[in-house]
Amino acid sequence: MEGQIAKRSLAADAVSYKLSNPLAVRMVQARRLSAAESGDEIYHLTLKLEGRAYSFVEGQSMGIVTPGLREDGKPHKLRLYSIASAQHGDIDSDTIGLCVKRLVEHRAEGPYHGICSNYLCNRKPGDELLVTGPVGKAFSLPVDSSFGVLMFATGTGIAPFRAFLESMYPASGAAWGGQAALFYGARTRAELAYLNDENDDIATLARRGRFAVHVALSRQEKTATGERMYVQHRLREAAHDIWPLVKDSKTAIYICGIKGMEHGIAETLAETARSHGADWEQLLEQWKKRGLWNVEVY
Ligand code: FDA
Repeated sequence: MEGQIAKRSLAADAVSYKLSNPLAVRMVQARRLSAAESGDEIYHLTLKLEGRAYSFVEGQSMGIVTPGLREDGKPHKLRLYSIASAQHGDIDSDTIGLCVKRLVEHRAEGPYHGICSNYLCNRKPGDELLVTGPVGKAFSLPVDSSFGVLMFATGTGIAPFRAFLESMYPASGAAWGGQAALFYGARTRAELAYLNDENDDIATLARRGRFAVHVALSRQEKTATGERMYVQHRLREAAHDIWPLVKDSKTAIYICGIKGMEHGIAETLAETARSHGADWEQLLEQWKKRGLWNVEVY
């Protein structure tokens, strides 16, 4: 078996801000990514570092400190948000982008508003925020840009892939050498962040990188057997074409988004592997050992 692959990582002495010593940043822009007719509010937030250092690699997350105390007198929990821009910056090299969904749960006793996501989505340009991190080591791109990159996103799980793709296909400079493909699911086009009428950054990147984007809209599309269309169904449709990329020992797989989404994807990949006479269990074990199977779900 081949060994663990080298992935992009931070220098050993890079600063990771802690709750005891957070970094102050300023929000400079909030752009709505979900269409007005959608009940979901998803925003792209741009944070300005104002010259302070915040080194990260694409795929890492930033911690957000919600000020104030909970009802029990304890501080609010630190929440993580995947960095949605590349190292070279969001608007410029002094800015970082996040993709945040306002969490609102409708309950019998009334709506529950998620603490940190609502705090973030209510911020106005000019407001200061305290942030920590970056955190997360495994969910990063291979150092070797000839690797294939197969990405599966649902909802705000698109955030780290926007960062990946911006780094893989910069507006100027060398593009990623290996093949890429993205499977991306949301309920409707209105919630398909970065790939709808509000913002189509992913479409721009796909044109630049000439990679395929397979969209699954669970409330707007049905499978041939009348089921809601999820990413694994799009994967099944494309399985034959995607198999050469999947089986390549130089392809890294990334799954990000709603908890549980990894099961449907793994099942579909298993079916595809078996139909090609490959030993799925062995394949998955190898991918995991080599750092090629990367799952970040929440
Ligand atoms: P909050 O924590 O308040 O609520 C979350 C859940 O807890 C609710 O479903 C609620 O039911 C329950 N709950 C909490 N307190 C309760 C109480 N007092 N009473 C009843 N129920 C209660 N999100 C995103 O939008 N974009 C992103 O890019 C990412 N990236 C990301 C990366 C990683 C590695 C992780 C682990 C997570 C994310 N997330 C994310 C999710 C994000 O960190 C966060 O979990 C959500 O924004 C919700 O946090 P809130 O503080 O808004 O909800």
